Amino acid sequence: MLLENHTPAYLTNWGTAYCGDSLKLLAALPDSSLNLVLTSPPFALQREKEYGNKAQADYVAWLAQFARLVFRKLKDDGSFVLDLGGAYELGSPTRSLYNFRVPIYFCDELGFHLAEDFYWHNPAKLPSPIEWVNKRKLRAKDSVNTVWWFGKTRWPKANVSKVLTEYSDRMKKLLEDPEGFYTPKKRPSGHDIGKSFGKNNGGAIPSNLLQISNSESNGSYLRGCKTVGAKVHPARFPSKLPEFFIRFLTEPGDLVLDIFAGSNTTGSVAECEGRKWMSFDERLDYLATSSFRFCPEAMTDAELKTTHNSILAGEAVDLRANVLNTLNQQPRNGTSHRPTVPTQDLLILAERASHIASDQIAKTKTISYRRQTKRR
Ligand SMILES: C[S@@+](CC[C@H](N)C(=O)[O-])C[C@H]1O[C@@H](n2cnc3c(N)ncnc32)[C@H](O)[C@@H]1O
Repeated sequence: MLLENHTPAYLTNWGTAYCGDSLKLLAALPDSSLNLVLTSPPFALQREKEYGNKAQADYVAWLAQFARLVFRKLKDDGSFVLDLGGAYELGSPTRSLYNFRVPIYFCDELGFHLAEDFYWHNPAKLPSPIEWVNKRKLRAKDSVNTVWWFGKTRWPKANVSKVLTEYSDRMKKLLEDPEGFYTPKKRPSGHDIGKSFGKNNGGAIPSNLLQISNSESNGSYLRGCKTVGAKVHPARFPSKLPEFFIRFLTEPGDLVLDIFAGSNTTGSVAECEGRKWMSFDERLDYLATSSFRFCPEAMTDAELKTTHNSILAGEAVDLRANVLNTLNQQPRNGTSHRPTVPTQDLLILAERASHIASDQIAKTKTISYRRQTKRR
């Protein structure tokens, strides 16, 4: 989907990334058009991040401006998933309640429904704040983010069978020999464990505690940043986090939006999952480097630099041919990518975005054009 009167930073087979204030970009979207808004905003931290933090006292009001628009733009069975890290109050080892005030306000005042509260445990998180945890040994390390899943209505689309996890070793044994392993009976908790408990459903129902280490290597993204000498985004979330909610709450072809996209982890997962996506961030430098997530390994350093420079120069870069190359492999959920460009040759940085967006994009320039006759 393209936004009227806005030039994308880049586009791929499945999505578009736009630079700007998400309040303005959201307003330009048609109402009731989104299946899922999944995002991680700047948190109300005491330690300032390079993209700026919001004060704890103003936080709910600040975020509510975006949430009001998100509500309007979601379809009736759409979801809004919000990852929020906890924070301490200034100068004392007391927790701020800012992340808990968000769901209360969103449900009481904006009309959202809290479908479920999730907790993302990141075992790789470093101990902080240093003063309370490392130096004075007064607090445990904080390694859990709250992830609020809101529905626009009480019945957001969801299918937990799309996110089954591996059975425990105990459960695997039970499935091998249900009769030998247990007898159906009522548990002390009152739960009736019947015969169907021994049925193999292909995996276990996940819990609302998501254990995901934020230590993935982001191959093409890191390579690109290194090549152009750019800093990596300081607050990327692991792709497993958006992957869980995209699979759980959307179907192939649905539209997913991240309004604080940063390095565009969400867009790149949506692309792999065969979902349409849009991503907004107010920093063009972040979006320029995020494009590397969609660049194939075969791209030369010179081509990566051209892509990066062109986005920074405000040109809309068409990466659709690259996606065709990168994702030759099947996406993880088995849906197939359908490239929209002709496939007789492999085009890298092929068309100009003006060809696609026609009159929506006034000025664009061809960046580089390479034909590769041998397909890998
Ligand atoms: C926590 S980071 C998101 C990181 C992202 N989840 C990732 O994996 O890379 C928050 C992002 O919000 C962006 N941001 C802050 N205020 C914004 C606004 N009003 N409109 C658009 N983007 C904004 C910042 O530039 C920053 O990149």
